Amino acid sequence: MDQKPQAVAEDPAKLAEFQARIDRGESIEPKDWMPERYRRQLTRMMSQHAHSEVVGMLPEGNWITRAPSLRRKMSLIAKVQDEAGHGLYIYCGAETLGVDRADLIDQLLDGRAKYSSIFNYPTLSWADMGVIGWLVDGAAIVNQTVLAKASYGPYARAMIRICKEENFHKRQGYEIVATLANGTPAQKAMVQDAVNRWWWPSLMMFGPSDTDSPNSAELLRWKVKHKTNDELRQRFVNLTVPQAAAVDLTLPDPDLRYDEATKNWEFGAIDWAEFHEVIRGNGPCNRERLEARRAAHENGRWVRDAAAAYAAKHGAASATNAA
Ligand SMILES: [Fe+2]
Ligand SMILES: [Fe+2]
Repeated sequence: MDQKPQAVAEDPAKLAEFQARIDRGESIEPKDWMPERYRRQLTRMMSQHAHSEVVGMLPEGNWITRAPSLRRKMSLIAKVQDEAGHGLYIYCGAETLGVDRADLIDQLLDGRAKYSSIFNYPTLSWADMGVIGWLVDGAAIVNQTVLAKASYGPYARAMIRICKEENFHKRQGYEIVATLANGTPAQKAMVQDAVNRWWWPSLMMFGPSDTDSPNSAELLRWKVKHKTNDELRQRFVNLTVPQAAAVDLTLPDPDLRYDEATKNWEFGAIDWAEFHEVIRGNGPCNRERLEARRAAHENGRWVRDAAAAYAAKHGAASATNAA
């Protein structure tokens, strides 16, 4: 997505008017003038986000056949299906920036595009389905609630709908966690183990610390973001610590302590070396996830071909997604 030169000379008057619109809290719409850099940043963010929704189906899809009851199976299927829908809304939103969804998907499949590091961790037990809903969807809500106020209209509107569904995901996850935490000693141990494995990767979902986040200042100035990575991470920790206590689970951080002065739960150091390794493609499941997506893309080719043939036969003008 970065085929264009990095530095585009923008008209200073247009740039000033654009910033003034942002500062007035106006929403930027697809046909409005926008700096090339804004378009590129939004394209990067929205495509990474869409890829994350779609790749995010894999760790949980892994457990659909093994869900312990029909009720659990139905809600897990519904949740995974919702994530496909989230991917679709956001790909559609990204297309309003003038990119083609097929190109974005190619970038995911050939490894040029990134997606959230969290989905490169394995789901080892049924308890992971609960903990992912609680922590991973919970972290996504914290992020996405703020993105629902992003300056780019199509992104913000997609987030409003997505957040409603994420709330359902978080509740169904927390209910699984609470059930196991109040279950047999073996169930309690299983859910505690899942929390121990997912806690730190969940904190990494907010991205690098502010001091190490090259895009943050610009995204804040353009009101694509309204809060920094560290502010959002702190909010997530503050929300989650009491939820863990309520079901008598511990979080795997000996440095966790409440600071009366700031009203924040202080937490220990994040292992950024691990984060960067996962982003570089060396997480526990990076290879497996991309292979699964590539196979799904190949196996779905006949559907895209059939849709394109149908559209051509019926004279529809847009059969562009057939690639
Ligand atoms: Fe989602
Ligand atoms: Fe979700």
